[in-house]
Amino acid sequence: MTNKGKNRVAVIGAGPAGMMAAITSARCGADVTVFERNPFAGKKLRITGKGRCNVTNDCAPREVLEAVKRNPKFLYSAVYRFTPADTMSFFEEAGVPLKTERGHRVFPESDKAYDIQQAMVREMTEAGVKTRYKTRIDRVYNDGRSWVLCCGEKKYAADAVVLATGGVSYPGTGSTGDGFAMLKRLGMRITELRPSLVPVNTEEKVGELSGLTLKNVTLSVLYGKKCVFRELGEMLFTHTGVSGPLVLSASANMQDHPVSEYAMRVNLKPGMSREELEARVVKDLSKYSAKDFVNSLSDLLPQKLIQYVVGMTGIDPRKKSRDVSKAERIRLCDLLSALPFTPSSFGSLDEAVITRGGVEVDQINPKSMEAISWPGLFVCGEMLDTDAYTGGFNLQIAFSTGRLAGESAAGFAERENTKEPEEERKVDFSKIRVAIDGPSGAGKSTIAKLVAAETGLIYVDTGSLYRAVGLYMARQGTDAYDEETIVASLKDVDIKLEYSEGKQHVILNGECVDGLIRTEEVSYYASAVSKIPRVREFLMNLQKSLGDAGGVIMDGRDIGTVIIPDAEVKIFLVADAEERARRRYAEQIEKGLDVTYEEVLQSIIARDQQDSSRDVAPLKPADDAVTLINNRTIEDAVNFVIGLMKEKAGE
Ligand code: DC
Repeated sequence: MTNKGKNRVAVIGAGPAGMMAAITSARCGADVTVFERNPFAGKKLRITGKGRCNVTNDCAPREVLEAVKRNPKFLYSAVYRFTPADTMSFFEEAGVPLKTERGHRVFPESDKAYDIQQAMVREMTEAGVKTRYKTRIDRVYNDGRSWVLCCGEKKYAADAVVLATGGVSYPGTGSTGDGFAMLKRLGMRITELRPSLVPVNTEEKVGELSGLTLKNVTLSVLYGKKCVFRELGEMLFTHTGVSGPLVLSASANMQDHPVSEYAMRVNLKPGMSREELEARVVKDLSKYSAKDFVNSLSDLLPQKLIQYVVGMTGIDPRKKSRDVSKAERIRLCDLLSALPFTPSSFGSLDEAVITRGGVEVDQINPKSMEAISWPGLFVCGEMLDTDAYTGGFNLQIAFSTGRLAGESAAGFAERENTKEPEEERKVDFSKIRVAIDGPSGAGKSTIAKLVAAETGLIYVDTGSLYRAVGLYMARQGTDAYDEETIVASLKDVDIKLEYSEGKQHVILNGECVDGLIRTEEVSYYASAVSKIPRVREFLMNLQKSLGDAGGVIMDGRDIGTVIIPDAEVKIFLVADAEERARRRYAEQIEKGLDVTYEEVLQSIIARDQQDSSRDVAPLKPADDAVTLINNRTIEDAVNFVIGLMKEKAGE
């Protein structure tokens, strides 16, 4: 057994998620280094919660998930593994007494975010974490043996990497989205980044109200007739609009349409019924009957707001209170219970407390925070496309995902270092070439991947080559059926396949496009370009050279007939249409698509028909292929293929 003796974990970004990941990894025994572009750790943490730092929300894990606006299910494992109670113990054990305020919000007793930040830095030091401040990592890649982190010309190696560079809010603190650029270079998909939990600018000129805080008011947000948000709490006025906890929370619910299509209403007197409110207004107006209208509302409204509300009623402020008519009273009551504000825009990313959007979560394993296509790379914190309401939930998510990423990274690094040196395989498959073809949905890629994992063969996904060509054409805006233009542009297309840790990466003109080729649009293009003979020819050499190397399992059209006609093992994998439809239907329902089983079945039957009748590369088994019916368990099929391989390898 070889043991390099140091399980190196690199954490990029020393915010709450990164620091938690680093502390956890180090406590698990890893050799941890944190890279941070700022001169110290936790810069943004110091200013959160107006410098008070709302560390978590003292609630059950289930309630944390309920407060998550986007992708709550993804966070299930992380939050249950490291709960708000765990966060509280963590800080209390680190010497920071905590207190709980309204809405279960938890703060340091001292009201100083500084104490939280210092505690995390102390815990890092105690756990033996090394820090490299003022070091801006701009690129990470895997050289096949380890991860390499680049900072300009400088390079650092690690067995596992945790990316925790945060979102793009408060850019002054260093949150500029560095990590997103690194992930994009690895072909990962990032959703559009937008401010969430931001102040809202209004059409109404509210400058004179700026600084005024309203407590115990109800804010409602309407989209047309639909109420998309209603909560009781605190809000405040800025020079250009509204802000404060209620507005920040509301902003997370105003993301589905242009912001100007929403309407805001503030009930200044939510404790009173309409009758009570009218009675109260009558009472106040008679109490001050000899005064000007504008001077009779001081029992009802804060001084700063009176002029504004009176202005909105259209009633002459100098009118005597006793002369205010019933209709005017009703207008006043309408405004007191629903003072309207018209959103014009969101505050900028500079003002956003958190970012909405980020790494699309279907690319991350929720049980470990590891990138599915990049073993040894972990992502946590605000980089993930999840976000929650205010109240300490977002920091809790940073801690939970940081904790899980740190633990998983340490485990990964250790496994890397205690791996058996190239396990002695009883059978040598290094010369074996396996070709799998068969109708769409029969399970070719599933079986090929499993066989590869068990036997050490390299799985070559040839469909991804057609997809890469499709992506290029889609990006160029070429019509998918404009054969002439497609053929003419092939000269500008350079595709390579790279392999690391048994995973395939598709490089299109130097850019890794793994994540980009799995969209509906690209599927459509891939299907169209794969019918063009010149495109097939163009991809043939690359496929042949991969096949010639041996030790491969390739799936897709033509493999057993054209690409490696002398493959040692050739499988024609079929499953009856009903079986395939059941699998595809289950997959689509899991993805949340709205389809019926019957629709899926019909589309499979239609595609079979089209595939077997097309002129170019029709679906047909090689003469010497073994037909395998994949109607039983996947293991049966995998074992069957491995059995054939063993026979050939033993010859
Ligand atoms: O397996 P897939 O869906 O990723 O394949 C993408 C497209 O390319 C699909 O329309 C079938 C086509 N294809 C092909 O014609 N020949 C191959 N060897 C692999 C895929």
